[in-house]
Amino acid sequence: MIRVLNNILALFTGKPQIAEKQRSQETMNLILSRRSCRSFTDEEIDKDDMQAILEAGRFAPSTVNLQTWSFITFTRSAWREKFERPLPFNGMWAVVICADMHRLKNHFPDLKDTPYVNISFALFNAGLSAMNMTIAAEALGLKSIMLSETGKTGLLDYAYLKEKLRLPDKVIPLTTLVVGKAKGEKAGIPPRQPWKANVMEKSYNADNCEMLEDWQQQMFIGFKLTHPLSNFQKQLEMYKKKMVEAEEELRKQYHV
Ligand SMILES: Cc1cc2nc3c(=O)[nH]c(=O)nc-3n(C[C@H](O)[C@H](O)[C@H](O)COP(=O)(O)O)c2cc1C
Repeated sequence: MIRVLNNILALFTGKPQIAEKQRSQETMNLILSRRSCRSFTDEEIDKDDMQAILEAGRFAPSTVNLQTWSFITFTRSAWREKFERPLPFNGMWAVVICADMHRLKNHFPDLKDTPYVNISFALFNAGLSAMNMTIAAEALGLKSIMLSETGKTGLLDYAYLKEKLRLPDKVIPLTTLVVGKAKGEKAGIPPRQPWKANVMEKSYNADNCEMLEDWQQQMFIGFKLTHPLSNFQKQLEMYKKKMVEAEEELRKQYHV
């Protein structure tokens, strides 16, 4: 019981542990105070802000400067027209971020013999561009969330998005970045795993499962608090089903 109470307390009090000098640094503060936003207002986004966010994505670093990404943008109304449903969380603008190995085919045909390496590069680079865009949005006073499932918006709905967006082979819709102005106060901080479970010195520590028990409990409690009408187990079942379906499609793409 005490453990449960401590974990509830941790959910409300947990925050990044850094020194005051570092915390007061503007970019550092921006990175650590960013939270996924799940409720947006109807306020329009400046076109120059959209361009700046996309440019931040395009200027991310990438392996051998290959820029293995593509961004497909949607206004709120364009999203509704295309997908026949609203942009999740009442977002104002969205970017579907794809890991893109399609363009490489023409320039480096030999790459097809190393699918695991290609995909690892492509995913990593596209992830960096996504993060650059997220931080750019924060810097411009906007909020965002990356989605992989909610509203059929990412990797777990790969077959659906492939058809809807007419994606060629080797273009993987990783995530949709939904952007807008935040409605209301930001929620608490989703619990992070303990430092020692993630950060290791000199060699890998594989015996860190026990360390994660509190974190797991905090995740369950956090889910219950934020989704009182839903059930974590049911959610997990739905994820498992979608993961198996997405896996089938991805296997076809990677030819492995
Ligand atoms: C690639 C990716 C996909 C995500 N997909 C979803 C999603 O489908 N639905 C959702 O509500 N949140 C989604 N999230 C948000 C995560 O739940 C969130 O980042 C995590 O709980 C940590 O919270 P924070 O972003 O506020 O720090 C996704 C995040 C990432 C990076």
